[in-house]
Amino acid sequence: MTQTLTIRRPDDWHLHFRDGETMRAVVPHTARQFARAIVMPNLAPPVTTSALAAAYRDRIAAAVLEGVEFTPLMTAYLTDETDAGDMAAGFADGVLTAAKLYPAGATTNSAHGVTDVANIEGVLERMAEIGMPLCVHGEVTHSDIDIFDREAVFIDRILAPLVERMPDLKVIFEHITTKQAVEFVDTSGPRIGATITPQHLHINRNAILVGGIRPHMFCLPVAKREEHRLALRKAATSGSTKYFLGTDSAPHHRHAKESDCGCAGIFNAPFALESYVTVFDEEGALDRFEGFASLNGPAFYGLPVNEDTTTLEKAPVEVPAEVDGGEAEIVPFHAGETLKWRLAS
Ligand code: NCD
Ligand code: ZN
Ligand code: ZN
Repeated sequence: MTQTLTIRRPDDWHLHFRDGETMRAVVPHTARQFARAIVMPNLAPPVTTSALAAAYRDRIAAAVLEGVEFTPLMTAYLTDETDAGDMAAGFADGVLTAAKLYPAGATTNSAHGVTDVANIEGVLERMAEIGMPLCVHGEVTHSDIDIFDREAVFIDRILAPLVERMPDLKVIFEHITTKQAVEFVDTSGPRIGATITPQHLHINRNAILVGGIRPHMFCLPVAKREEHRLALRKAATSGSTKYFLGTDSAPHHRHAKESDCGCAGIFNAPFALESYVTVFDEEGALDRFEGFASLNGPAFYGLPVNEDTTTLEKAPVEVPAEVDGGEAEIVPFHAGETLKWRLAS
């Protein structure tokens, strides 16, 4: 008999939908698997206010196919000029679920990000007061810091002091990639959580560089050494409620990835759940998958868990070499591979 696993319907606590034709092409992949998703605000220009977030939310909702239930949860992109009152009003209205800290220059469309956390201290204090979570891209950007060290240095220089100054602030350390991040999250209080992507559970840095440069394996923070991948697998499957599913699905068209300056980001939305559950199966932790995928995120954000369920079955599914990305095709994570688990229809 086919092995199956039924869990509460999961959510994706970190992803990128982009806008326009690309957004309309990618949203259905996420809505097929997840009830809700935290939508990152790094559009060009970025979603910096609650009014912009409300308009973006409506464009996403219009891209969800008939008969599918899916709720986008919106975030605002913090800049040196962010108005604390607007963040608080957006949070109170239910338009904003969280705000996102991009250190200026850290990643895709982060040029308008925060140049120094000192500039948003007042905004963060207000967020701590009202219980509004802060999502963090945790990398320093100084040119003298090696790209493989940027997350660990961010913990020491920015994140640990911030958490110490503002113990009431809820912080999600997004898409963690190192054993140092795992150690930081494990030893912090209950207001510190972290998302983990499928790619950082599956690949180490060899996947990007061995046998040729593989642009579709490149994202930020960049995949690290094997010891870090193993620490992430252990954290995700540990049963700790501090870790939850956040794909960081980041669609870039094939030509933008296969370029002399290829974009950072892996498009994993089409088979995200299938990718994650494969890891939990390999680790002998299928009994912990529901916590990671469906329970820990809502508990951290203070939101209800989903009422309906999703069933996965241990049966092969082939990932296509490319998928429609609106204006051009996109190469998905696991392109051309056969995964061992699929969504039961
Ligand atoms: C993301 C993107 O393309 O928007 N890219 C990535 O490599 N992860 C941005 C981000 O999450 O840092
Ligand atoms: Zn990021
Ligand atoms: Zn992201």
